[in-house]
Amino acid sequence: MHTMEFARLLLPCLLAAVSVLAAAVAQSPDNCTRRCGDIDVPYPFGLEPPPCAMNNVPFQLNCTTAVGSATKLYSGSLEVTKISVPDNKFWFKTWISRQCYNQTTKSMLTETSWLDLVETNVLSAEDNKIIVLGCNSLAYMRSDTYTIGCVSTCNNTVTPMVNGSCSASAGCCQLDLPKGVRYYQGFFNSLYNTTDPKWRNTPCNYVTVMESAAFNFSTTFLTSTAFYDRDDARTPVVMEWAIAQGTCGDAKIDNTTGYPCVSNNSYCDTNDAGYVCKCHGGYKGNPYIANGCIDIDECTENVPYPCPAPGSCRNTLGNFTCSCPRGESITDGVCKKKQKSTWMALVVGASIGLVVLVVGITCAYLIQERRKLHHIKQKYFRQHGGLLLFQEMRSQQGISFKIFSEEELQQATDNFAEKEVIGHGGHGKVYKGVLKSDVEVAVKRCMTIDEQQKKEFGKEMLILSQINHRNIVKLLGCCLEVEVPMLVYEFIPNGTLFHLLHGNSSRHIPLHTRLRIACESAEALAYLHSCASPPILHGDVKSTNILLNGDLTAKVSDFGASILAPNDESQFVTLVQGTCGYLDPEYMQMCQLTDKSDVYSFGVVLLELLTRKVAFNLKGPENEKSLSMVFLNAMKENKLEDILDDEIKNNDNVEFIEEIAELARQCLEMCGMNRPSMKEVADKLDRLRKVLQHPWAHKDPEELDSLLGESSSVNSGSLVSTGNFSITKKVAMGLEIGR
Ligand SMILES: *[C@@H]1O[C@H](CO)[C@@H](O)[C@H](O)[C@H]1NC(C)=O
Ligand SMILES: *[C@@H]1O[C@H](CO)[C@@H](O)[C@H](O)[C@H]1NC(C)=O
Ligand SMILES: *[C@@H]1O[C@H](CO)[C@@H](O)[C@H](O)[C@H]1NC(C)=O
Ligand SMILES: *[C@@H]1O[C@H](CO)[C@@H](O)[C@H](O)[C@H]1NC(C)=O
Ligand SMILES: *[C@@H]1O[C@H](CO)[C@@H](O)[C@H](O)[C@H]1NC(C)=O
Ligand SMILES: *[C@@H]1O[C@H](CO)[C@@H](O)[C@H](O)[C@H]1NC(C)=O
Ligand SMILES: *[C@@H]1O[C@H](CO)[C@@H](O)[C@H](O)[C@H]1NC(C)=O
Ligand SMILES: *[C@@H]1O[C@H](CO)[C@@H](O)[C@H](O)[C@H]1NC(C)=O
Ligand SMILES: *[C@@H]1O[C@H](CO)[C@@H](O)[C@H](O)[C@H]1NC(C)=O
Ligand SMILES: *[C@@H]1O[C@H](CO)[C@@H](O)[C@H](O)[C@H]1NC(C)=O
Repeated sequence: MHTMEFARLLLPCLLAAVSVLAAAVAQSPDNCTRRCGDIDVPYPFGLEPPPCAMNNVPFQLNCTTAVGSATKLYSGSLEVTKISVPDNKFWFKTWISRQCYNQTTKSMLTETSWLDLVETNVLSAEDNKIIVLGCNSLAYMRSDTYTIGCVSTCNNTVTPMVNGSCSASAGCCQLDLPKGVRYYQGFFNSLYNTTDPKWRNTPCNYVTVMESAAFNFSTTFLTSTAFYDRDDARTPVVMEWAIAQGTCGDAKIDNTTGYPCVSNNSYCDTNDAGYVCKCHGGYKGNPYIANGCIDIDECTENVPYPCPAPGSCRNTLGNFTCSCPRGESITDGVCKKKQKSTWMALVVGASIGLVVLVVGITCAYLIQERRKLHHIKQKYFRQHGGLLLFQEMRSQQGISFKIFSEEELQQATDNFAEKEVIGHGGHGKVYKGVLKSDVEVAVKRCMTIDEQQKKEFGKEMLILSQINHRNIVKLLGCCLEVEVPMLVYEFIPNGTLFHLLHGNSSRHIPLHTRLRIACESAEALAYLHSCASPPILHGDVKSTNILLNGDLTAKVSDFGASILAPNDESQFVTLVQGTCGYLDPEYMQMCQLTDKSDVYSFGVVLLELLTRKVAFNLKGPENEKSLSMVFLNAMKENKLEDILDDEIKNNDNVEFIEEIAELARQCLEMCGMNRPSMKEVADKLDRLRKVLQHPWAHKDPEELDSLLGESSSVNSGSLVSTGNFSITKKVAMGLEIGR
């Protein structure tokens, strides 16, 4: 067995030691040779010493024309076939390692080669492949950091050998080359069976690193020495080169070459070998020489034409622009009629349409709501007798009665704010308000109202509006647009008589003031009973319904319980109403409200004025709950003085007070028939008042008698306890006006 080893030493590694020539400006001078045979030799490569080549040794190449052969370019001993500056690569030829069986000598011939590149060069991982050929091969490629093996066998029954297809079970094995390989050596397995008959058909195994694009498997590679012979035992291989090892940061401080990327529009980049220069996008050329990067005229150079067919192309520095014929634009890389504008118009149109629609619908909705509201308001207005009221007002000139709108009252009362509430009742609230004309008003707003009330409401208001008496709270107007009508009264600032008498302030109230209040109230009630036609019955006379203005002038208020005196029997009031302590016992029995019911209630108010005690004291003992009962008992027992208010008692006016007490007693008669009319009460009080204003009258009892008129006889009767009964209010307007 004879083995021959061929070693082919590659030189670049040795040449790296050659001393660096003088540093020079890295630019391509005019007089350098830039071609060797068919091959361009661009800077930084050169055939002459720097400045023709960059001053690193690997860049200086040797162009040799041997006698009788073609001109060849060498880098050391490697034959260079192509140089590319833009992608920093060059192509050269490398040696094939092989293992062949010599039939004649019956021995194995093995030739191994290796490649060792300078440090700024690496084998291109992307362009090269490790190729192993043979039917008995186990070949290795051993690098400085890798050992890669590949086995190829032949079994035509499993995988038939096909031209152009490399398959490990069909005599061809190929492997990817790792990155950064600068050195390799090919090896074969030495354990082979030379008696294997395969060797007769396929005598050789090969291993090499070569440009994958240059390899095309052929069956003849196995059956003959064609692979080895076709280029003198060499295969093409691609190498990446760099200016130097390191990064672009290193490039800037490299003092042997200077910054290499001298061209405008160039930049420094790195590859597997080190740092390199490149032209920016849109530029091409040589970044290593001044102005080496030139603009690419994409419009003429690019294949295919970069712009859509009917359009035009305009080159710009580093780029280009495409334009389409008038009225067209590029869509999806094609010139198309400007759908954009119609599309935009569509979108804009649709948007506007939508907005208009929304606004329209909103307006329609609002108008509808307004109409509905108006309708409702009109309905209420009609329900509450607003039309009747209007008709009456048209026929009767001079009624200063106003129909308020809901908004007006909302504004006046600060939207019915809680702080404006000046009175509460079981059925609603009274608000203080200020109209736009700066007039202070009290607005009575009820929570509920029943059907019958709604019908009667307008009529009642009409009557109340006609009342014009200085001692009756004036009804200024009303609001009929709402479900439950609101009443607007003049505002009486000083609270109620109840508060004056029983309130917290123990204010001294002289007798004449009390008498005046009683007199004024009586006049007001008398007016209601006699001057209006048909008579108006107040129905709920009590101290809380007598308001007082600034100078304590009495103002009778709250006609919520008022009714017009019934014209016939059918109009009986069917429900008892009123307030405990004031309620006419007869009315409770008969369920018929008469003017005498008001007289009874007024009698209780008189008692309040005399005694300064509340009409009905729930907390008191059983027989002292009702002031009227206490009073009548006291009268019976002649103990009137016991219950009188100390403030008004004195020796001078005993008689006088007894007169008032007697009047009150008459008012409290059980039988309504026996009670004086309101007019009589008012007249008597008026006379008493005059007597009190002129004290001289006291001195003449006869004068007094004549002034007081006939003294009524004492009528006794059974008293009905007003202490224990339940009261159902008839009218929802039973509220208290005033503070
Ligand atoms: C360029 O080369 C030519 C001939 O090789 C020579 O005559 C000329 O002087 C050279 N010019 C420069 C600038 O070196
Ligand atoms: C170039 O090649 C020639 C001929 O092979 C040789 O004499 C010369 O030394 C080589 N020069 C370099 C720099 O390798
Ligand atoms: C085999 O070896 C003989 C003797 O060394 C030589 O003459 C012959 O060319 C070889 N054959 C092959 C195919 O290499
Ligand atoms: C080829 O492979 C088949 C199936 O594995 C096997 O039976 C046959 O013996 C093989 N032939 C050779 C020549 O190795
Ligand atoms: C492959 O091509 C060669 C010629 O290039 C030919 O001789 C051979 O028969 C072909 N092999 C196959 C399997 O087609
Ligand atoms: C490889 O060779 C086959 C014929 O041997 C041919 O058909 C095929 O196109 C070639 N492939 C390449 C990539 O050259
Ligand atoms: C070599 O191959 C032959 C034929 O296939 C076989 O007879 C022989 O035993 C093998 N020798 C070894 C050492 O494997
Ligand atoms: C280059 O710089 C290195 C250190 O950065 C220094 O040692 C070396 O002398 C410099 N060479 C030249 C030619 O300036
Ligand atoms: C290259 O760049 C330099 C400075 O950046 C500028 O002065 C010069 O005109 C440029 N040359 C070209 C051809 O653009
Ligand atoms: C050219 O211009 C287009 C559009 O402005 C841009 O997307 C593209 O990146 C540019 N190309 C280059 C190489 O600057």
